[in-house]
Amino acid sequence: MRHLVASVLLISLFHFGLVVGQPNANERGLFPVIFNLAANALIDANATCGENGAETYCKLVEHIPGRPVPNPQCRVCDAYSLNPRNRHSVENAIDGTNSWWQSPPISNGLEYHFVTITLDLQQIFQVAYVILKAANSPRPGNWVLEKSIDGINFQPWQYYAMSDSECLSLYNIQPTIGNPHYSADDEVICTSFYSKLNPLENGEIHTSLVNGRPSVLNPSSTLLEFTSARFIRVRLQRIRTLNADLMTLTSNEPGYVDTFVSRRVSTIIRIPMSVL
Ligand SMILES: *[C@@H]1O[C@H](CO)[C@@H](O)[C@H](O)[C@H]1NC(C)=O
Repeated sequence: MRHLVASVLLISLFHFGLVVGQPNANERGLFPVIFNLAANALIDANATCGENGAETYCKLVEHIPGRPVPNPQCRVCDAYSLNPRNRHSVENAIDGTNSWWQSPPISNGLEYHFVTITLDLQQIFQVAYVILKAANSPRPGNWVLEKSIDGINFQPWQYYAMSDSECLSLYNIQPTIGNPHYSADDEVICTSFYSKLNPLENGEIHTSLVNGRPSVLNPSSTLLEFTSARFIRVRLQRIRTLNADLMTLTSNEPGYVDTFVSRRVSTIIRIPMSVL
């Protein structure tokens, strides 16, 4: 069953208002109805900070370069904590609040660069946008946005890389330089536009699956096919840490870097999901 609804996966509910408040005339034609599907989605992540008990993480952005760091601001995530603020399960990403999901700290193992979040919209929708919002961490560096109809076979929607050259070396796709743009209804691009280190917090990633594509005003079967999804997957492949950047920023403070790097933060990604 196909539902012609423009869909937006929002990473944070307060941005929902922002998106809904500025509907694009083009999308109105294709997607007359605006829905928030967040409440109906199932969400899963294959690793979460604190899922096996208390873990400490430190917040990078509170370390201001040039200042000593006597007491890095560290906190605990713990799925079993009685305090909900210590729990960062992936359901937080779609619960409509400002709580967030958090991946395990990289200090616990480099495998935590690779965490996959899967959303099940429970029906097939035409997805117009996917918007992810980082919480108190930089946006992820390398990752793939994928979609599926059956939950088994996934196709890429878009690639994100820390540099244009990594588009080629990691994903074997010529980078789309600068602002993302699309030359075909089903073009899968790779962009470094959203993987920059700044902002260090609350960065957003807007992926348009419809807007700016050739047949947006009179959608082709290719565009309808391309945007059809029941399952959406966010495959993180490299968390953006401040390691290299801090080396530069704090080269006068070697002790600071050591402390900091050894207490490395995880990327924190908030994925409340709304579907427009
Ligand atoms: C999560 O699943 C992906 C496959 O989608 C896998 O490559 C990755 O290693 C898994 N991550 C962890 C931490 O288990």
